[in-house]
Amino acid sequence: MQQLNNKHILLGVTGGIAAYKAAELIRRLQDHGAEVRVVMTPAAQEFITPLTLQALSGNPVHTNLLDPAAEAAMGHIELARWADLVLVAPASANFMARLASGRADDLLTTLCLATDAPIAIAPAMNQAMWRDTNTQQNIAALKSKPVAIFGPADGSQACGDIGPGRMLEAEQLAELAAQQFESQALDGVKVVITAGPTREAIDPVRYISNHSSGKMGFALAEAAVQAGASVILITGPVALTTPERVERIEVENALEMHAAVMDAIKTCQIFIGAAAVADYRPVEAAAKKIKKSSDNMTIELIPNPDIIADVAACEDKPLTVGFAAETDNLAEYARAKLEKKKLDLIIANDVSNPSIGFNSDENAVTIYWAAGEKTIPQSTKAKLARQLIEEISNRYSAEN
Ligand code: C5P
Repeated sequence: MQQLNNKHILLGVTGGIAAYKAAELIRRLQDHGAEVRVVMTPAAQEFITPLTLQALSGNPVHTNLLDPAAEAAMGHIELARWADLVLVAPASANFMARLASGRADDLLTTLCLATDAPIAIAPAMNQAMWRDTNTQQNIAALKSKPVAIFGPADGSQACGDIGPGRMLEAEQLAELAAQQFESQALDGVKVVITAGPTREAIDPVRYISNHSSGKMGFALAEAAVQAGASVILITGPVALTTPERVERIEVENALEMHAAVMDAIKTCQIFIGAAAVADYRPVEAAAKKIKKSSDNMTIELIPNPDIIADVAACEDKPLTVGFAAETDNLAEYARAKLEKKKLDLIIANDVSNPSIGFNSDENAVTIYWAAGEKTIPQSTKAKLARQLIEEISNRYSAEN
């Protein structure tokens, strides 16, 4: 189950006997590739200690909204932004009532309001409390928000009753959490993505390149596969592992990338150019290592083909999505590229800001198309990639 690979799960634990199962749940989520951070309510800490969950998650456990030390380490807004999914397990009747009424009177409810990640809860309570009209009204209100409700199961309860209200087992919850990341938006669609830098040889040991890490292209490939697409990822030299179910084609320089792309796009419906292709290459790469001398040296460069412009110029062109990494005049330059290269969408980011863009794990972008624009605020590249794939697939289905 790779849908949890590199996913950030914020696990909320509230006060009920099922809180002891949170320890097992952390393990199961990690088995499936997730990174877990834990938030506990005061009542939860009566059932299982923060130290246990800290040791298992490998991260400090967050317990208090108004704790200056915790806020300095990772503030609640940062934590809310970090999450790809907020999973509250067990969710007590009291917590459900507070979530349903939009309270923000402790850390966990505040995080639920502050996050733009989906929220899922695994109710756990006595069968009579579960059946109570108030609880059922709260469940109905939460479903309309929408909050995903995992379970509860029927069975024997800690109090000796038999009935609905048992929390689902850890493995079932991990599987349901993984399903939250699957969508069918690109079912049967073939997507070609370029990623990383290119290297333009000067001689057998030296080259011209750039700082692209390939992270954005790889994150897009993973998100596209999870949306049901079959994905070919054509990448320059990067130190990244291939997401599962993605076909990777490795190239070194712009000419090789151009040839691989022109071949791969023949049968694709969407092309995303996330590679930082070198604009120029040396006219000729020396066959042998160039010897050092005290004279100045000149390397003559010629322009590389513009891969994405060539894709967009094809007769039966795929939906073509480009990137614009700019240090200034973001909107103006991005729109000029959109038009000049005849793209359907362009995703622009400000590379002068070191907390986003090249080599960083986070990014913030604005998407431009002929008739509009949309800004996606700063978040992890993985989360941003899922939002971008959603925008791209909306656009694709509107046109097909
Ligand atoms: O013109 P600029 O390089 O800023 O445009 C960036 C966009 O064009 C990116 O989507 C990039 O992948 C693509 N590109 C390309 N081939 C080039 C240069 C850029 O596909 N030679």
